[in-house]
Amino acid sequence: MHLNSIHPRLPLVGLLVLASQLMVACGGSSGETPDPTTDPSVVGSEAPSADDQPITEDPAFNNAVGFSVVREPGARLAVVEVDPEISDATFELGLPEAVITVPEGVDTTTNQAPFFEDLQNLTVEAGEIIEIVYRPQDPEGELPGMFPEKLPQGGTFDDNFDGSKTFRWQPLQMDVGILKFTVTALDPENSLYRTSQPILIKTVLPEDLSSIPNVAPTLDTLLTYTARVNDPVVFELKGIDLNGTVPTLEVPNLPAGATFNQHPRFEEVFVLKFTPTTVGETVIDVLARDSVDSSLTTTEAVSLSVLAADAFDRDGSALKALASNRNVQIGFAALQSFYHQPDGAIYASTAAQEYDIVTPENSMKMDYLNPEPGRYQFAATDNLVAFANANAMAVHGHPLVWYRQLPTWITSSVVAERETHMSEYIERVMTRYADDVSVWDVINEPMADDGSLRDSVWLEAMGSEYIDKALTQARTLAPAAAILINEFDIGFAGPKFDGLVELVDGLQERDVPLDGIGFQMHVFTSFNQFDELEANFAQIAARDLDIYITELDVSLDGSATIVEQAAAYQQVVNICLEQVRCKAIQTWGLTDQYSFRSNFDPLLFDRAYQAKPAYGAVQDALSVN
Ligand code: G3I
Repeated sequence: MHLNSIHPRLPLVGLLVLASQLMVACGGSSGETPDPTTDPSVVGSEAPSADDQPITEDPAFNNAVGFSVVREPGARLAVVEVDPEISDATFELGLPEAVITVPEGVDTTTNQAPFFEDLQNLTVEAGEIIEIVYRPQDPEGELPGMFPEKLPQGGTFDDNFDGSKTFRWQPLQMDVGILKFTVTALDPENSLYRTSQPILIKTVLPEDLSSIPNVAPTLDTLLTYTARVNDPVVFELKGIDLNGTVPTLEVPNLPAGATFNQHPRFEEVFVLKFTPTTVGETVIDVLARDSVDSSLTTTEAVSLSVLAADAFDRDGSALKALASNRNVQIGFAALQSFYHQPDGAIYASTAAQEYDIVTPENSMKMDYLNPEPGRYQFAATDNLVAFANANAMAVHGHPLVWYRQLPTWITSSVVAERETHMSEYIERVMTRYADDVSVWDVINEPMADDGSLRDSVWLEAMGSEYIDKALTQARTLAPAAAILINEFDIGFAGPKFDGLVELVDGLQERDVPLDGIGFQMHVFTSFNQFDELEANFAQIAARDLDIYITELDVSLDGSATIVEQAAAYQQVVNICLEQVRCKAIQTWGLTDQYSFRSNFDPLLFDRAYQAKPAYGAVQDALSVN
């Protein structure tokens, strides 16, 4: 957990409670100056505001070593995500349609999909316990298996050992709103032949609020972390109370020298900071106390595996030393706010030892950076730049113009005003980081799979010219930086790559500035189109453009081994090195711990920051001359 993932779901009541909690959270117990920018009139103003300047963060809240950290000044919501709760109108339409997945080879005339009978949407009062029996049927008469897509907090899905299972759940205040609950039935003959049936559960408040039981608060789930002895560790501990109130957190036995402070912006978060001085498993009990009934508590253990410093030693030369001999940069995409994670210090030192270029994985996306008109959140990117500067790393800005991760105020904006919004945004961001960023993904993912331009709010507003305009503006604002179009699924032959080449040819005919193409390369171990990758690189190079491998990761698919993964990395690096226009190789993330595809362990470092065979393979590829 870090602070940008504090409120995954904002039910109606929760949202109101949360907003008021956040307003009072300002100042916290850190002794920092209360935010002067909570004037609601600032929000919604179109003009960029000076109130967005980050302020120094008390070091008790981070584990940064060698650079200092700033934070957002205000207590306002980090991201105003009005993620659409399902509307009442949708609820009234009745049971959502089932989704049937038919794998290749299934003849649906002789084998029909499993299905559920007797399910319907339901309305429940907070505090009531619901029980729904699921009994999937198979037209061929066998008993289908089943599993729920995701259980709401406190929900269970119990086997009745007669072919049915029962979903039991007691929604509380935090669940007020409409929840989509999906169960998937598996065809008895082919478990990939599936029917996923959602139901909508609408939770409302009862008239008598005292009828809702008060439950004990809990601690938000944490991962398993590894730290290096004598490195500072911070745990952002978040209390959760399904009744919608804010629990207090306590650490009965604070480790020696530890600090424990309420977060200055998020009332439900407490930050524990300490420096483990001995190797081994450290376990710390954290007690969450109910704010209404102080006798209601739960205690949860937070654990950390502390390894000796030499456990992180690696054989051979650092990747950046090897890469620099081969005239390429080597880098990674940085987890947002890694210095707020328990293992942030070893994260930072691993990155600093190995890499000389870094991309912010998320903090430069428009929904985060500019969540409301005129309001910017620069702190996370400022911190990454400070980290990069302290460690002689170049910064690769990502992404300026993209169809995803847009704030609602852009997606719902008047079409005729979007060009102004785009150019104001580009100007604000590029100007701020002009001295720090050497490569920009100006246009991200403009192509559709069929080679046409992908539909987007920008295409809708300006047609294909949005690309010309953004690149031209970018060149003016950062004349010395490399400006790129960054795209995925172009590492092999096909209409998407052909469409991209056509786009590039058009830009060049019109003299639109462009320095290179970013090949993302999110591949699986089964990827084997290396000849096509080489040929695509050659086509880009033939257009006098540079090539950047921007988002490389190799996911383990099926029974693939980490040795096969290493071989794929090695081939991609070799192909880059054989192409003189290939300027950089960046992996999308540093460690499997935080990869966006962490289920597939796609990176060079495992969750405990140990180098995998892929690391050695990249070293080998970079070493051969
Ligand atoms: O910050 C919110 C948090 O407030 C919320 O509670 C939480 C709930 O899921 O989500 C948090 O944001 C998530 C964010 O990652 C940070 O973890 C977003 O939902 C999630 O969509 C976002 O995913 C990122 C994705 O781009 C979309 O922006 C991935 O981390 C990131 O690896 C991925 O990166 C993209 C490149 O930018 C472009 N190329 C493809 C690549 C992989 O999809």
